[in-house]
Amino acid sequence: MNLSAIEKFDNLPRISLSNLNTPIELLSLSEVSPHDRLYIKRDDFIGSLVWGNKLRKLEYSIADALAMGADTIITCGAVQSNHARITAQVCKRLGLQCILVQNGEKPKVPSGNHKINLLLNTRIVYVASPQQRAAKMLEVFDEVKSGGGRPFIIPLGASNAAGCPGFVNAMRELKQQQQELGIEFDYIFHATSSGGTQAGMEVGKRLFGLNKLQIIGISVDNSVEQITDSVLQCTNPLLEKLGHPFRIEGNELNTDINFIGEGYGISTQESTLSMTAFLRQGVMLDKTYTAKAAAGLMHYLRDIPRGKNILFWHTGGLLAEL
Ligand SMILES: Cc1ncc(COP(=O)(O)O)c(C=O)c1O
Repeated sequence: MNLSAIEKFDNLPRISLSNLNTPIELLSLSEVSPHDRLYIKRDDFIGSLVWGNKLRKLEYSIADALAMGADTIITCGAVQSNHARITAQVCKRLGLQCILVQNGEKPKVPSGNHKINLLLNTRIVYVASPQQRAAKMLEVFDEVKSGGGRPFIIPLGASNAAGCPGFVNAMRELKQQQQELGIEFDYIFHATSSGGTQAGMEVGKRLFGLNKLQIIGISVDNSVEQITDSVLQCTNPLLEKLGHPFRIEGNELNTDINFIGEGYGISTQESTLSMTAFLRQGVMLDKTYTAKAAAGLMHYLRDIPRGKNILFWHTGGLLAEL
């Protein structure tokens, strides 16, 4: 039997970890913009402990690991990585071992994501720089294997062809919500870094026919080239796996690097302003990801004609603030 790409997508292993569908709400930023068709997608409401976008990807990555018989998940990120902490929490909930390879100094006073990792008794292997993470994960993989365990590596941000289906599925959710709201979105703005979120959205847009949508990834750290590479490493192997004839080219992606400022986790004047504007509406942003994406959104709002439907995708990540 010849299955369609959507049927093949539906057959991908998935476990349910989140409270879907996350709400879409009207967002008024009238103090800074006259747009009255601005909405916010609340992935900050996706589950307990402000999980955010990573939970969508883990529904697929962890299902893959379980299907392979894994008993130990190895993943990586910075010391305050949302993805690493969420993976540790999911593993605890499912009875899997979790080992985190994290770059940065071991903090003297535990806080935020790092504190949760410690409370969960998660093993953390520290490396000095992001460049050392991949090799260290392989070392840990061999160590677990030689000790009789069944390790499985989830790459940074679960951003690969196995994890990005989480955001393909999110596009189906969006399509359904568009129908309920009686609108079609023209733009999505979201924070991008390891590319899996953007990749899933781009594949989902094509798979589910959200044709008029422009997806704008606001980079929080990486260059256009780095993000394009990461996105395409997710999208095209996934499309191949789904037997879909189209492939995504780098020039079809919209990635904006103008809101990074001095770098990862360092606030800018614009991101601080966006945090305040959103807080006035009762929405908390984090300085590393969502505040920079919101700074991008607020800049673009000046040029987007009124009457367009605009969605700011809140990807969570609030725990790093605490
Ligand atoms: C809160 C939050 N938003 C956005 C992103 C970026 O997503 P991606 O790494 O899939 O590009 C991350 C990644 O760590 C994140 O934690």
